[in-house]
Amino acid sequence: MKCRKCGAVAVIKMQQHKLALCEEHFLEWIPEQTERAIKKYKMFGPEDRILVAVSGGKDSLSLWDVLLRLGYQAEGLHIHLGINGGGYSDSSLEYVERFAATREEAKFQVVDLKAAYGQSVPELARTTYRGRKPCALCGLVKRHIMNRVAYEGGYDAIATGHNLDDEAAVLMQNTLRWQAGYLARQAPVLPSTHPRLARKVKPFIRLYERETAAYAIVRGIDYIYDECPYAVGSTTNFYKGILNQLESRSPGTKLSFYLSFLQARREGLFSRPGEALELNECQRCGQPTTAPGLCAFCRLWQRMDSR
Ligand code: AMP
Ligand code: FES
Ligand code: ZN
Ligand code: ZN
Repeated sequence: MKCRKCGAVAVIKMQQHKLALCEEHFLEWIPEQTERAIKKYKMFGPEDRILVAVSGGKDSLSLWDVLLRLGYQAEGLHIHLGINGGGYSDSSLEYVERFAATREEAKFQVVDLKAAYGQSVPELARTTYRGRKPCALCGLVKRHIMNRVAYEGGYDAIATGHNLDDEAAVLMQNTLRWQAGYLARQAPVLPSTHPRLARKVKPFIRLYERETAAYAIVRGIDYIYDECPYAVGSTTNFYKGILNQLESRSPGTKLSFYLSFLQARREGLFSRPGEALELNECQRCGQPTTAPGLCAFCRLWQRMDSR
């Protein structure tokens, strides 16, 4: 297998693009593809301040690396969720710290959920979710905190490391139930619909998970290899497995599944005219919410307090 650009030994073959690349050209290709996605979906420009949500995993650390290399103003935010008696979260944070220590321009902040709000994700789940898996609650908490930090820090956009495998798996779940509301909002860019809601962008949306992992490895980025213990056996992982089976039968399936969806959406398949969601400000924290009184995040803490 030889690099298409220079004929040297290739380190990766991307069947869906019929493209094999050597180390050097793969390290160039990933930022080029990222830049193309940023421009194509009008995510942000060089003048914008970007808050990169970094978990310590391969996707978000690679994303931060690529954005800094492309010259964007990208600052990190890590949220310490207190998972696994804090152990999983402690080591996630260590990978973020280690990455930042190697790059002078990599500034970041940490929000420790328990220190800032009084409870970790598992503790919150125990009382308010009656022992159910805390992933949905964790997602809610992360979105709220990212949004708060972006608002308070005056950032123009929040960037997350979601890759094409993540998006295709969620798309499959939403499609199987034809959840039109979720489908309408599943996008590479979610524009800000309220002064207190930051724009959300996913610059790695066109990259396969194996490519972001390969980038981290070839670039020498050390990342937390283990998944969150709650994600093991999750529905999303199950769908990722199914999509990979389809992909191995027919390379490019994941990419075309997702890109054709975006095309269908542009053509109005999921638009619901006149149904723009009305946003109110939460009476406790001020963040926009579709609920009349308190936002979902504040209702969660209210339930905690009433116990
Ligand atoms: P996940 O939901 O774990 O697949 O993560 C999706 C994206 O959310 C990651 O690529 C990160 O950008 C962001 N993210 C996940 N966990 C954290 C965290 N603890 N702190 C900051 N960002 C996170
Ligand atoms: Fe939130 Fe796993 S990362 S529950
Ligand atoms: Zn080459
Ligand atoms: Zn609130």
